[in-house]
Amino acid sequence: MSELVSNKKVGAYHHMVFSVGEIASVAKPGNFVAIAVGGESSQLVLRRAFAIYRTFDRGSSAGLLEIVVAPHGAGSIWLTNQVPGTKIDLIAPLGNAFGIPTEPVRALLVGGGYGSAPLFGLSEVLKNRGCRVDMVLGASTAMKIYAPLDGKRSVSSLTITTEDGSTGTAGKVTDVLPEIIAASQVDIIYSCGPMGMLEAINKIAVDFNIVHQCSIEESMACGIGVCMTCVLPIKGEDGVIRMLRSCIDGPVVDAETVIWDSKRSIPEGTWGAN
Ligand SMILES: Cc1cc2nc3c(=O)[nH]c(=O)nc-3n(C[C@H](O)[C@H](O)[C@H](O)COP(=O)(O)OP(=O)(O)OC[C@H]3O[C@@H](n4cnc5c(N)ncnc54)[C@H](O)[C@@H]3O)c2cc1C
Ligand code: FES
Repeated sequence: MSELVSNKKVGAYHHMVFSVGEIASVAKPGNFVAIAVGGESSQLVLRRAFAIYRTFDRGSSAGLLEIVVAPHGAGSIWLTNQVPGTKIDLIAPLGNAFGIPTEPVRALLVGGGYGSAPLFGLSEVLKNRGCRVDMVLGASTAMKIYAPLDGKRSVSSLTITTEDGSTGTAGKVTDVLPEIIAASQVDIIYSCGPMGMLEAINKIAVDFNIVHQCSIEESMACGIGVCMTCVLPIKGEDGVIRMLRSCIDGPVVDAETVIWDSKRSIPEGTWGAN
C-alpha cells in the first residue's frame, strides 16, 4: 500500500503524489502504475492504469511518485476524491519505457491532454543527455493543457494548441508539427495521447521519415500480461502481424509498426488468425 501524500486540482486534472519507497528509484519515463480503485468493498474489480508523471528518488523509504488524473468515470472520480493520508493499493512500475538515444539528438515531444504527463520526465532525461527538446501540447481547451512551470524549464521550446483557441494556436497539434519539424530538424518524435492523435502524428512522422515512439492507451485490465485485454496488432521485423500486449510489450511502441486501421479487430494476415 502507498500513502497518498498530496492531491491538488490543476485545471481539469488532479496532480497526485504517492509515497512509494524504492519504486521511485527504478521507474522510467513511459512506465505506468496500476491502481485499485473504489475501496475494499467496491465492485470496481479492475485496476486503472496511469502514466507516471515524475518520480523523486529520496532514499529507500522516502521515494515519491506523481501522476496526473482526469476525473472521468467511476474509477478516476473515486481516486481523485481521496484525501492525503489514505493508503492506496498501487503497483508500479509497469510496462516498458521510452527508448533513450545514446547520442544527443533533436527530439520533439507531443502530448494530448493528460498525455503530456510522462513527457516532462522524458524531457529531463533527454536534456541530461544533451538533446534539444521541443514540445507541443494540445487539448480541446485551455483547462485541459497540463504544462506545469517546472516542467516547461526542461524544454527548449513549448508550443500549445487548443481546438477552441482558448490558449496557444487554434487547432490540433498536427497543424503545427510540419513547421516545427522542418525548423528544428527533428530526429525523433515521442508522443502520448489519444489513439487518433497518435495515428495522425504517425502519418506526419512517416512523411518526414522520422522515428516515432508513442505511448499507447489501450484499455487494460490486469496490467501484467495475463488477461489479453490490451492487445494491439503490431507488425514485426519479419513482416508478420502479431497481437501484442500493450501492458508488457508497451505501452511504448514504435509507431510505424502499429496497424493503425485495424478498427479494434484482428487484421487479416495476423499470426494465428484464420
Ligand atoms: C497505459 C495507460 C496510461 C494511462 N494514463 C492515464 C493518465 O495519466 N491519466 C488519466 O487520467 N488516465 C490515464 N489512463 C486512463 C485510465 O486508466 C482510465 O481508463 C481512466 O481514468 C478512466 O477510468 P474510469 O474508471 O474513471 O472510467 P470508466 O469508464 O468507468 O472505466 C474505465 C475502464 O474500466 C472498465 N470498468 C468500468 N467499470 C468497471 C467495473 N465496475 N469493474 C471493472 N472494470 C470496470 C471500463 O470498461 C473501462 O475500460 C491511462 C490508461 C492506460 C492504459
Ligand atoms: S492488461 Fe491484461 S494482458 Fe495487458
